[in-house]
Amino acid sequence: MTQDIKQQDVLDAPFMKEMMNTTYDMWKLGWDELNGGNISYLLKEEEVRSYFDLNQVKRTISLDFPVIELANQYFLVTGSGKFFRKIIENPEECLAVLRVTSDGESVELLWGLSDGGRPTSELASHFMSHIVRLKHDPNHRVIMHTHATNLIAMTFTHELDEVQFTRTLWQMCTECLVVFPEGVGILPWMVPGTSEIGKATAEKMNEFRLAIWPHHGIFGAGESIDQVFGLIETVEKAAKVYNLVNAHPDGVKQVITDQQLIDLAEAFHVNPPKKYFS
Ligand code: 13P
Ligand code: ZN
Repeated sequence: MTQDIKQQDVLDAPFMKEMMNTTYDMWKLGWDELNGGNISYLLKEEEVRSYFDLNQVKRTISLDFPVIELANQYFLVTGSGKFFRKIIENPEECLAVLRVTSDGESVELLWGLSDGGRPTSELASHFMSHIVRLKHDPNHRVIMHTHATNLIAMTFTHELDEVQFTRTLWQMCTECLVVFPEGVGILPWMVPGTSEIGKATAEKMNEFRLAIWPHHGIFGAGESIDQVFGLIETVEKAAKVYNLVNAHPDGVKQVITDQQLIDLAEAFHVNPPKKYFS
């Protein structure tokens, strides 16, 4: 005998509330002007099942970058051209719940994009990064891209060398080394919204959870929306301190030394690669 399963309102789903509240917070911080920024959140089938009939596909959207590794996986993603400021008011138009088809060539829309819109134009960077991060962390779930203001500014004034850039960030706030001991990856400037920048971003995700797109923004990866938000917030704070310090007419009088960074790593049991101290 089949039993009717009563569908719950998806707007009450914890994953939906997290997405709506966090995108609004990001806009308030000034990181996501206009339609800047995008988020994708890997959902478990059991999380999705209580809210949707999984046999009801609204549309199928083809991908120009096959992702067989993500076959049959569910994602909550932001829509292309949607304003982070407005997601909280109109989630059904601005967000999408997608399932990757079993051949990895398309996504099926189960909910959202009610005005006929498309998922974020950075889906290649998101999906390719998910594939890489899942190899390193089975609990990985979230990729977040944002136009963090101070970080963008710092990519104009600081050399774009990963080791030097990471060291500078660590030197700006004592907690930084503990929060991202592996450092930050930096891509060359590239045209956004392409499979090429997707491949290059995912490549960085082998070594880092943070990949900087110079003069554009940052990609972060992690196990929850709060974790990735916090990771990016920490980098952005360090970049803000860097910009404040750099703008000071008297210049720098002292910094956190290498020995202090090493002592910190030891005290907090993190292992920054040796390359940062040679
Ligand atoms: P989307 O609106 O397509 O998500 O693009 C925003 C963005 O930040 C591009 O890098
Ligand atoms: Zn962007």
